[in-house]
Amino acid sequence: MSIFRRKSIASLQAEAASETGLKRALGPMSLTLLGIGAIIGTGIFVLTGTVAAQNAGPAVVLSFVLAGTASIFAALCYSEFAALVPIAGSAYTYGYATLGELFAWIIGWDLVLEYALSATTVAIGWSGYMVSFLNHVGIHIPATLSAAAGTQVTMADGSTVTALFNLPAVLIVVAVTALLVKGIKESATVNDVIVIIKVAVVLMFIAFAWKGIHPENWHPFIPANTGDREHFGPSGIIAGAGIVFFAYIGFDAVSTAAQEAKNPQRDMPIGILASLLICTVLYIIVSAIATGVVPYAQLDVPNPIAKVAEMAGLGWMTRVIELGAIAGLSSVILVQLLGQSRVFYSMAKDGLLPPIVNRLHPKFKTPWITQILLGVLVAIPAGFLSVREAASLVSIGTLLAFVIVCAAVLLLRKREPTLHRPFKTPLVWFTAPAGILFCLYLMYFLPLRTWIRLVVWLAIGLVIYFGYGKSHSKLAAADK
Ligand code: ALA
Repeated sequence: MSIFRRKSIASLQAEAASETGLKRALGPMSLTLLGIGAIIGTGIFVLTGTVAAQNAGPAVVLSFVLAGTASIFAALCYSEFAALVPIAGSAYTYGYATLGELFAWIIGWDLVLEYALSATTVAIGWSGYMVSFLNHVGIHIPATLSAAAGTQVTMADGSTVTALFNLPAVLIVVAVTALLVKGIKESATVNDVIVIIKVAVVLMFIAFAWKGIHPENWHPFIPANTGDREHFGPSGIIAGAGIVFFAYIGFDAVSTAAQEAKNPQRDMPIGILASLLICTVLYIIVSAIATGVVPYAQLDVPNPIAKVAEMAGLGWMTRVIELGAIAGLSSVILVQLLGQSRVFYSMAKDGLLPPIVNRLHPKFKTPWITQILLGVLVAIPAGFLSVREAASLVSIGTLLAFVIVCAAVLLLRKREPTLHRPFKTPLVWFTAPAGILFCLYLMYFLPLRTWIRLVVWLAIGLVIYFGYGKSHSKLAAADK
């Protein structure tokens, strides 16, 4: 069947080796920092609060443990592929090599949810911290212009207003898009500095805010379910895990830098696994402190970590934490938008998207048409969606991609058992099925409306594939 035609591992390895355009400058340390830079973002800075307040209470800690476990299983599978086929297309390329073109397309299309919509979600988180920071320095953005359409915002005097749209979230997307069109060199040094600031801010929070913990805030640790599956009790913890799963997304960004790694066979798994493990530990500690300092019901604010810092009496450090979050979140948006254009680049190179996607600006030499379209696509929902709605959709899309990657690892082990694999997923016949089941389980607990959105998105993707990609595929042309 032509829609299941595959690329061979050998041809992909040749492609990875022959690619000379990119400089191989990244070692294990830079790759780990790259991963941490992409991982720490709105998940920990914002979703911790909303999930504690609406789904899990103090047991948001367990939501983080569950989502982290699912991510680690998936990351072990990603590592096998990233070392075997070190190519920028990441999961899309792995799909092309194992499950065939249709699945590759589905993953690529699904990755739009992961990358582009993540940028939307992080922009909304950025807005929360920016508005609060500006407020403290005397610049007040009207409440009607700083939250998702329809959100009821409570004013200082207790009255409420209905928000129209989230202007700062739109503006940050426009600014980052402008940078990308102009051709910002994704400088590893700048990234390293921002990541170090971000991690320092998280460590500062941990080092000082724990003093404000009141253990009674952890009781009850698992608030009783309210009758609605998503709200508290054990099912609320799992529903919360599906949402905070968003916080772990990004370790796979390491795999998109495969062609810039000095020694991808050895360093891809190190970068992927080290960044994920470090973040998992940080998340568990931060969420425990947050719910220990502030009663969980009060954490549903746009900037919960700053609120916790304030209540723990951190004074001026609160502003530093806000600034660190603002800088850190900006870099996540940049990495996500860049990652998205890389995946589109691979897809257009394979003929599955029109060549215009890769057309370069005559002066800036960047894929400006794609970047601008992407900017518009990302900015509009950033103005209108709430952070939870956006994050749930990203989570379900990414969980699906992880399920496919775990399945693909098994399939390739069966099909080509003797292939030299520089990194082998340990206990693969346990790890990969566990990854699949964990991810499916988290998906199952996400709200029905999120499922409907996913299905609609995939249906649009299939229309595009059968209307365009299938007949323009380069692989198909080569087969003829
Ligand atoms: N994991 C990233 C974040 O939490 C996407 O912002």
